Amino acid sequence: MLTKWLNNAHSTVVFTGAGMSTESGLPDFRSSTGLWKQFDPKQLASIDALNNQLSDFMQFYLERVNSVQLVKPHQGHSILAQWEKQGLIEGIITQNVDGLHQEAGSTHVAELHGTLKRLHCQSCGETKDREDFIKQQIKCHCGGKIRPSIVLFGEQLPNKAFEDASHLSSFCDLFIVLGSSLSVAPANQFPLIAKEAGAKLIIINEESTDLDHYADLVINERKIGEVLSAVDQQLHSI
Ligand code: APR
Repeated sequence: MLTKWLNNAHSTVVFTGAGMSTESGLPDFRSSTGLWKQFDPKQLASIDALNNQLSDFMQFYLERVNSVQLVKPHQGHSILAQWEKQGLIEGIITQNVDGLHQEAGSTHVAELHGTLKRLHCQSCGETKDREDFIKQQIKCHCGGKIRPSIVLFGEQLPNKAFEDASHLSSFCDLFIVLGSSLSVAPANQFPLIAKEAGAKLIIINEESTDLDHYADLVINERKIGEVLSAVDQQLHSI
């Protein structure tokens, strides 16, 4: 059914979460081995942590900035990039901050939560290179703090990515969620926007999600890469 819907759709949008990157070796957040099972996000991944717990904040993000440099896209990322080139998908809305979709070749990617691949000064906004951060050079020449260009809890989502995601969701006829618990707003509103605009909603995730009851199809699988590979093979046999 997934292959048929994908093949017949006029505009397909893919929405990814941390479960899209676990097969590349990065942890997710809320499964049994997730990051938020080891750390309290409010203590580390919040604007409050940047302002008041700077050393803990820096330690946590040094590890995460380094980890995204060490991993590579897996077959699932590559298949999505190939589907974009073939015109099968319009674009990707991602909550992920690892840059793996772009590294695999996807070009239309709305990064709702920013990226660990970039850093900037909290005060003057100047872009900083990774070396400064790795050397734990915490301050910018203006005196501001250097931080990753991700959305911290308590911050607004980037306007451009939000508007891009809203447009993609409002005008698609197939919306496929890959590897997200769909538990964080406002990102988890986009599957509903697509559904309300008349799109079919497919959720592929190891565990059940908060929005399964809205979906036209739910596939509980632990290996997104293998699911996409099987669909890709079926597409070639049509
Ligand atoms: N295949 C299928 N599903 C998987 C796989 C896999 N290989 N690996 C993990 N999953 C599932 C997990 O079971 C989990 O339900 O992916 C889901 C990931 O959910 P979360 O860990 O909640 O990640 P996500 O939905 O992306 O979180 C959203 O929360 O903390 C914030 O900013 C952070 O962007 C993140 C946001």
